[in-house]
Amino acid sequence: MNLKKMVGYKAAEFVKDGMIVGLGTGSTAYYMVEAIGKRVKEEGLSIIGVTTSHRTTEQAGELGIPLKDLNDVDHIDITIDGADEISDDFQGIKGGGAAHLFEKMVANQSEEVIWIVDDSKMVHKLGAFPLPVEVVQFGCDQVFNLFNRENLSPSYRLDEGGSKLITDSGNVIIDLHLDVIDQPHELAKWLDSVTGVVEHGLFLDCVTKVIVGREDGPEVID
Ligand code: 5RP
Repeated sequence: MNLKKMVGYKAAEFVKDGMIVGLGTGSTAYYMVEAIGKRVKEEGLSIIGVTTSHRTTEQAGELGIPLKDLNDVDHIDITIDGADEISDDFQGIKGGGAAHLFEKMVANQSEEVIWIVDDSKMVHKLGAFPLPVEVVQFGCDQVFNLFNRENLSPSYRLDEGGSKLITDSGNVIIDLHLDVIDQPHELAKWLDSVTGVVEHGLFLDCVTKVIVGREDGPEVID
């Protein structure tokens, strides 16, 4: 059973006529966008989408989902997105797809935030998944060295050609290999204070609903 498809289609059921909908990024969000596209086409569902990456903009555009820029909406009713890890207390790591800057900006404007994951993403504590940090290109080695001195085990995210991966905003990604994050709020606060860091992948106190894909069906956790 395709658990990503299961939760993507389940999440699309929460979208109602007239809503402004934040559309996430990744292989799970892909199915949610596909499902919403079907509803737009087959049921005449009328929504406005706000996308979180060039990839999702392209997919939603091909499906005929009307889109607006984040600058052109005064609120977002619901955002549906994937996640890389969700802890017992519903904190998250995102950014495996290097889109966490736009994803966080969209989520921050949203009345409801739904994360859709297969059950492998549910963990006790965050940190086994490397924490993505988006950093400006200028002087990024200095930020990298700082992370090294702080024993945060950094590595640059590379593209298929072996060069530093460049995000939709023209920045690089440094992944922190931490194994376990005991104090996510403290770490987030420190990362927020580092000059050159644009955004990190700790999404704290932001989700309102999680849909977990399990072999026996989707579990909706409010
Ligand atoms: C992109 C993200 C994705 O939502 C996250 O990486 C999960 O992706 P997938 O559904 O492909 O496992 O945060 O920046």
